[in-house]
Amino acid sequence: MKILAINGSPRGMNGTTGRLLEEVMAGAVQAGADIEIVTLAQTPVKPCVACDVCHKVGTCPVKDEFEEIKQKLVAADAFILATPNYLLSITAQLKAFLDRCNGLIHLTALEGKYAALVETSGGGGDEDVLEYMQKIVNAMGAQSVGSIGSPGAGHRVFPDQDALFQKARTLGKELCDSVREKRHFPEQDEWRLGFKARMEQLIGYVGEVWPYEQQIVAKR
Ligand SMILES: Cc1cc2nc3c(=O)[nH]c(=O)nc-3n(C[C@H](O)[C@H](O)[C@H](O)COP(=O)(O)O)c2cc1C
Repeated sequence: MKILAINGSPRGMNGTTGRLLEEVMAGAVQAGADIEIVTLAQTPVKPCVACDVCHKVGTCPVKDEFEEIKQKLVAADAFILATPNYLLSITAQLKAFLDRCNGLIHLTALEGKYAALVETSGGGGDEDVLEYMQKIVNAMGAQSVGSIGSPGAGHRVFPDQDALFQKARTLGKELCDSVREKRHFPEQDEWRLGFKARMEQLIGYVGEVWPYEQQIVAKR
């Protein structure tokens, strides 16, 4: 089982988010996952330039490693998104990556995959960030198996750390179990499938302008 972990912290795996992500990954590895980490601090992805080429031909013309990461995401059974809370939201690094995934989002191309979400903060507000990330996962067509978020208590340490790490390991295991058992999270269907219908309608309406997306939707 292949899992891709995408860490949007500028501190990479040396940060507080990286520490919590390590525990989620440990739970997944113990449950049989083969994990690859993409650290956006080391593999920077430039911002989207809104050229619409991804909608027309299916690939992004901006020159960096985005397409390579995208292929890994498409090939994975599941993925983990991790970020520190930056100004009540995700980091610019993760946002740039997700913006570049707009082609995948139009086609809800990650349908059938599962995701787990990881967030850390200085002082809380974790749920808002995790809720936003779940929407992005659902917009990609994937289902979220759950999330973990916590304020830090210093660099790479947390309040009530043992309980938090236990929860993180359980989340990693849940991600693997969800892939194996092809679990369904019906509470996400209304938003997830509503978004898919909206995107199909948009692609149908725009028609010839986005031939790549039109072709894929026509084959469904
Ligand atoms: C630019 C910036 C913005 C931040 N904004 C918030 C915020 O809005 N709310 C919060 O609780 N913590 C905020 N923090 C604190 C980080 O979320 C927190 O320290 C996090 O655990 C850092 O994770 P890292 O070590 O993986 O980078 C901010 C930190 C930075 C550098």
